[in-house]
Amino acid sequence: PIIYCITPTYWRYVQKAELTRISQTLKLVPNVHWIVIEDALEKSNLVRNLIAESKLIATHLVAQTAPFEKLKDKNPKARRHRGVEQRNAALKWLRDNLTLGKDKGVVYFMDDDNTYSIKLFDEIAKVKKVGVWPVGLVGGLNAEIPIVHSETGKVTGYKSGWLPNRPFAIDMAGFAINLDLILTKKEANFSYEMAKGLQESEFLGYFTTKEDLEALADLCTKVYVWHTRTETPKIFGTVPGLEV
Ligand code: UGA
Ligand code: MN
Repeated sequence: PIIYCITPTYWRYVQKAELTRISQTLKLVPNVHWIVIEDALEKSNLVRNLIAESKLIATHLVAQTAPFEKLKDKNPKARRHRGVEQRNAALKWLRDNLTLGKDKGVVYFMDDDNTYSIKLFDEIAKVKKVGVWPVGLVGGLNAEIPIVHSETGKVTGYKSGWLPNRPFAIDMAGFAINLDLILTKKEANFSYEMAKGLQESEFLGYFTTKEDLEALADLCTKVYVWHTRTETPKIFGTVPGLEV
């Protein structure tokens, strides 16, 4: 199957570094199609050139976050949704351009700032409907993990330091969904209406139940992806004419 990796991205000083890292990870993976969606009005040359130079099979889209949502950045208490519009644009692209039954693949939401082991993609390739695995450095623990019954291999709950009673206490980086399901459930999208931190739960709810999850990465005993976040550098000047 082709692994469709959906990456929202936006301009900030570390953008090129993040996209370089993630694109070079993807170079080590067979059968990927990278879908990059800029949070912008127009495609930037920086992203366009980076994708072209990567020589990955890729699709470049734009979708801007609604101004009312971006405004929440000014209020330190109001954490806003990130990546909503961009992931929806990618889902629309998949539904408009791929054919149920003919195109075979798995869809993975791959944020631009996380750290991905190439081992993860062997797990993603195994997904039949919806696969899950631990994510390191998120949810207030060293890892957020689905709890798996050792004999049945079924997910029975979640270990998370943050809202462990969510229907699916899983970060965006901790699951992948078969393309057939994405193409079938056309109504499944992300939304600003969803409660803070419940994007993943509400989205997964369109496709599966806890009992149906496929526990990957050695029955969720291995960490192959980390929710790293890059420090914002203090930049007080720029070198003219240099793209960083
Ligand atoms: C966590 C989750 O890991 C994200 O998948 C989820 O979207 C996010 O929370 C959320 O609360 O909405 P976090 O590290 O806080 O992640 O989010 P970011 O990494 O800052 O953003 C997620 C993705 O959206 C990234 O690929 C980022 O480049 C993109 N993004 C972020 C935009 O396209 N526009 C923005 O203004 C901010
Ligand atoms: Mn992040």
